[in-house]
Amino acid sequence: MRKIRSGVYGLNPLMDGGVNENTTTVVIGSSGAGKTTLASQFLRRGLESGEDAIFITLDEAPAQIVKESKLMGWEDIEEYIDNDQMVFVDAGGKQFSKFIQKELAEFVDDWAGHRARIVIDPLTPVLWSVEDKYGQRELVSFLLRETRKIGTVLCTIEEHGVMGDLSGPEIIIPMYLADNVIHLRYRSHESPEKRDLKIVKCRSSKHSRAWHPYGIMKGVGLYIMPVEDTTKRAEDAERAKGIIEEMLSKIPQEKTARLTGKALTNIYRTVDMLLKEDSWDVDPEGLIHLILQEYELE
Ligand SMILES: Nc1ncnc2c1ncn2[C@@H]1O[C@H](COP(=O)(O)OP(=O)(O)OP(=O)(O)O)[C@@H](O)[C@H]1O
Ligand SMILES: [Mg+2]
Repeated sequence: MRKIRSGVYGLNPLMDGGVNENTTTVVIGSSGAGKTTLASQFLRRGLESGEDAIFITLDEAPAQIVKESKLMGWEDIEEYIDNDQMVFVDAGGKQFSKFIQKELAEFVDDWAGHRARIVIDPLTPVLWSVEDKYGQRELVSFLLRETRKIGTVLCTIEEHGVMGDLSGPEIIIPMYLADNVIHLRYRSHESPEKRDLKIVKCRSSKHSRAWHPYGIMKGVGLYIMPVEDTTKRAEDAERAKGIIEEMLSKIPQEKTARLTGKALTNIYRTVDMLLKEDSWDVDPEGLIHLILQEYELE
């Protein structure tokens, strides 16, 4: 899969190099977390590389988004709009639901052959426009399947209620259907206010599992400073290789002889893959013990 750059400084390394092209990403966050800012950065980065941008806005008027983007330092946004590289779809929740059911397929056909980035900000009113959960799922599933045909999709989801409780249907449904999920956690009530984000999932990618503090700055937008000590992780990987090799060499032959050929091949294949890892999120020794125990090799 081809990785495309997110446009958010510091985010690509957390997602194994960027966002997979023609996938769907859901960004969850409370009010003021930076969802619209992140979405605009994502579109801007695509435009810079010659892709098209479709901004489907359900809350704010396009003029307001342009104004805020300019304040955030995106001064040439209007040039992209003037030469039709960037388009807005301005709709309410119910109106957009009808559009999905009746006109989306045709809209996608019109954009066939383009490489676009598509933002739906926020997706929440679309879910609210359908009463039953099954209907919500059908609608969002169809929306994501269709839009990803013409590009890479990013939807924002509002987080209401208790922060971190991602169990409501209007969050759960898009989370399951999307390829990638980013959670922006914004504690505006704390002083100084705190922001951190986590990649909840990123299909087909070795993504970060940690919470990462992020900031928002005029002219920069969202940025994530690296906090991990990479030297230590490289040392961990070196140490892991030594441990794996030593542990394997100690297994008595009568034990491995009890295994089927397929089991043995699979163990070695797993170990081969582990040896190729250049960084480790777990204690390597503990993980190898689990593998050996599964096959009764210790
Ligand atoms: N000039 C600026 N300098 C620093 N931070 C800014 C600036 N402008 C906006 N922000 C920050 O960005 C936040 C707004 O981000 P954004 O509008 O993207 O949030 P959102 O998640 O889309 O919110 P909502 O759910 O209300 O739409 C503000 O809360 C503010 O903290
Ligand atoms: Mg917003």
